[in-house]
Amino acid sequence: MKVLILLLTVYTVNALHPFSEEDEYQFKLWMSQFNKVYDIDEYYQRLYIFFENKRKIDHHNEGTHNKFTMGLNQFSDLTFDEFKRSFLLTEPQNCSATKGSHVSRNGPYPDAVDWRKMGNYVTDVKNQGPCGSCWTFSTTGCLESVTAIATKKLLQLSEQQLVDCAQDFNNHGCSGGLPSQAFEYIKYNNGLMTEDDYPYTAHDGKCKFKADLAAAFVKDVVNITKYDEMEMLDAVATRNPVSFAYEVTSDFMHYHDGVYSSTDCRNTTETVNHAVLAVGYGEEKGTPYWIVKNSWGTSWGMKGYFFIERGKNMCGLAACSSYPLPMV
Ligand SMILES: *[C@@H]1O[C@H](CO)[C@@H](O)[C@H](O)[C@H]1NC(C)=O
Ligand SMILES: *[C@@H]1O[C@H](CO)[C@@H](O)[C@H](O)[C@H]1NC(C)=O
Ligand SMILES: *[C@@H]1O[C@H](CO)[C@@H](O)[C@H](O)[C@H]1NC(C)=O
Repeated sequence: MKVLILLLTVYTVNALHPFSEEDEYQFKLWMSQFNKVYDIDEYYQRLYIFFENKRKIDHHNEGTHNKFTMGLNQFSDLTFDEFKRSFLLTEPQNCSATKGSHVSRNGPYPDAVDWRKMGNYVTDVKNQGPCGSCWTFSTTGCLESVTAIATKKLLQLSEQQLVDCAQDFNNHGCSGGLPSQAFEYIKYNNGLMTEDDYPYTAHDGKCKFKADLAAAFVKDVVNITKYDEMEMLDAVATRNPVSFAYEVTSDFMHYHDGVYSSTDCRNTTETVNHAVLAVGYGEEKGTPYWIVKNSWGTSWGMKGYFFIERGKNMCGLAACSSYPLPMV
């Protein structure tokens, strides 16, 4: 009887706190690395989610056919639902470019292109924070590069102006939008201000655009034909980086390095939920990939970048891509 009670006690205590001191040490190390602070209730809730995520990450990394690895990052204490609510576009977007206006040159194309290495054309990776404003970072990233290629001057452009002011073009601030619609806004608004003049807050705010401070301009918007990934390649190879959207699923949250490839995500215009910037492409061990600039800071992925499999409309990445023509 005594033994049974003892066993039951040990079992109950373990079920309440199934974590060893070493586990907690590891969690606290991660907390300090990413400046996380919790009250006591939240601490145990986050500890639990952290180890759920860590189990998924370890399980994935033990697999032998992976094209990419997973790792801990600033999102490791979040469930995918929480992540989705704070960082992704939650509503389906209107990408309607059934036939785009990009004119392909039909190659031949270089085997690899990386706009980061071709000149001072790509700004540093930025961080959108907890606001569904990925589309504004994809937009500024693309216009920054397109303008720099045309003028040899690399400016940092304002995401917050797009968050606060681009509503008339079906954009919704921290609740989502699309680069093609943001380029349209910049075109008809006659300009976008710089990051310094209109700094990022990660919150919806009142439009404070000042026409005399406009620093970059769009002459026209070029949509790439829906699902035509070769057209995307042509644009990146012969012109400039290209904005695109795709569907993020829970495995992507933990991406660390390698070529991301998934059977979980869907591939149509209705399901894309994140916008980013293709700055080049290449091939690794027979797998072609895009080089992509994300907006989740430099501690995520490969210094803020990721590779995603190219050539099969992976996660709908060819569903709604576009770029602006600069006015200089
Ligand atoms: C490009 O696509 C957007 C939708 O994402 C649409 O509003 C716009 O009219 C299109 N522009 C052109 C030039 O086809
Ligand atoms: C899609 O377009 C329709 C019609 O212009 C608009 O009412 C709706 O809000 C748009 N959806 C999004 C997510 O922007
Ligand atoms: C989406 O994926 C399915 C299954 O792999 C494929 O049959 C379909 O052609 C794809 N659709 C698009 C638009 O890429």
